[in-house]
Amino acid sequence: MTKKQLIEMFNGALELEHAARIQYLAHAEEIVGIDAEPVIARLREIADDEKKHEELFRGILGDYLGVTPTMCVAETHCAETTKKILETNLKDERHAVDFYVKIMDEVKNMKKELKYEYYQIEHKLRHVIIDEQEHIAELKILLGI
Ligand SMILES: [Fe+2]
Ligand SMILES: [Fe+2]
Repeated sequence: MTKKQLIEMFNGALELEHAARIQYLAHAEEIVGIDAEPVIARLREIADDEKKHEELFRGILGDYLGVTPTMCVAETHCAETTKKILETNLKDERHAVDFYVKIMDEVKNMKKELKYEYYQIEHKLRHVIIDEQEHIAELKILLGI
């Protein structure tokens, strides 16, 4: 893995965060019914976390890897019912964790090369992974699984 490839991975991660925030906010507008309010509140709260993740990844890219962060957005996914919305986002959260764990493995492999940046990058990425695992748990609770 080269530093250039690692930058590509972090830009891919930032694209996922852009998409996640938009997707949660759009899905929150779709939820209706007697039990809608807590679900809407939870989706908006998660969207706020995704915004923080964008900032963390921009910091990694700009401050520690020395590049301009991407402005691109990954693919977003539509869903029609509350259940489908929760399932779609659960799938996307799991995909994000899979991808971020892969990035973490690469960051660890490059520890020597990233001597002056490693702990900042590792810490920020770890923070994001921990949050995504929390999102998975929250979505599972709402789904009753
Ligand atoms: Fe995120
Ligand atoms: Fe998330």
